[in-house]
Amino acid sequence: MKAHASQLEDRIHPVDRPAAATARACSNVALVKYWGKVDEVRRVPATGSLSITLAGLTTETTVAFSNRDEPDLIVLDGRPVGGREAARVSAFLDLIRGASVQQDRPVGAASVRSVNYFPTAAGLASSASGFAALAAATVRAAGMDTDPDTLASLARLGSASAARSIHGGFVELVPFQRAGGDWDARTARVATEEHWDLRVLVSVIDSRYKPIGSTPAMARTSATSPYYGAWLDSWGADLTECREAIAGRDLERLASVAEHSALKLHALTTTSRPPMQFFRGPSLEVMHAVWDLRSSGTLCAFTADAGPNIKVLCSPDDEERVRSALTSVNGVQTVQATTVGGPVEIVSHDVDPTGVWGRGKARGGGDE
Ligand code: ADP
Ligand code: DP6
Repeated sequence: MKAHASQLEDRIHPVDRPAAATARACSNVALVKYWGKVDEVRRVPATGSLSITLAGLTTETTVAFSNRDEPDLIVLDGRPVGGREAARVSAFLDLIRGASVQQDRPVGAASVRSVNYFPTAAGLASSASGFAALAAATVRAAGMDTDPDTLASLARLGSASAARSIHGGFVELVPFQRAGGDWDARTARVATEEHWDLRVLVSVIDSRYKPIGSTPAMARTSATSPYYGAWLDSWGADLTECREAIAGRDLERLASVAEHSALKLHALTTTSRPPMQFFRGPSLEVMHAVWDLRSSGTLCAFTADAGPNIKVLCSPDDEERVRSALTSVNGVQTVQATTVGGPVEIVSHDVDPTGVWGRGKARGGGDE
């Protein structure tokens, strides 16, 4: 953990005085899924994954650093959070605080205010856009900057799927082993958001927090599902097929591999002990609606993360037909259509708004 964290710290460099920054990131949904880790501390996925960025599902996060040594204040969707949710954010802030100490311009406690403009912890990848926005805002608020690959590696330490939300478009996240034996992962954008004009229709069936978060859920799967070995053996072929389907804008091929990967993941969760069944009745009905549409000639494909809500991909020309089929499924509350989203962005950035950093008051010195 240490060796890799400091390697990342070396790739973050100072650009101006610490203060505050706001970042916006899009959520993403994996078409080839990751589930399970080879390194739980550094959140290195055990399998490669490939996602499509979702333009309409965004998180906006503002981080402001003080030079005081006190607990961080973390407000998520308007409510101050504590316990594990706050600890997860503070652990991430500590990484940047480590880099700030290394660079002799230490930052102290942070105030973090984040809003997910879609349901949190409901299987719509709030941790992906959440930690992507947090990573970008934290680095800038600490008066630093870095390259997108390093930012993705940082975001992955908060939530593995967040690494993919840094780049935008179609993004893969693939594990690899370093010469010394440690595992790491790298991201690569396989196509930009302009490459393929797809629609993703998000069918919301239940917007409440799911009963178990993805982190403990996948740990349970890797420890108990008898099918986990087959999962580890089969992701490589899925990734190749998905990459080719995207390159050729081949929705039929994408449907085949994306549904296969999603259903394998749900087979893993239902065969874990104790079992985790993320689908609700209407989730299955939406899948049948997609298969009915396909057999009557409308090309579309579903995917679903660890939650009951189903995302359906189709071409812009078929959007209205698919939307109407999905909204007529009993139990579907809303259908939100979105397009392919872009990379994380800094939407505002204040440099030293209070003057506190300029007065030489920073703990251990600052760059006054
Ligand atoms: P989801 O399916 O929404 O990604 P996860 O279980 O993977 O669900 O992650 C949900 C957790 O991610 C939340 O309980 C919280 O700890 C964290 N999270 C979600 N949104 C944010 C955010 N905007 N900022 C920081 N952490 C967040
Ligand atoms: C089903 O990235 O949320 O969405 O790394 O523990 O934070 P942590 O888990 P997370 O898991 C995502 C699982 C998935 C599939 C995927 O996005 O690849």
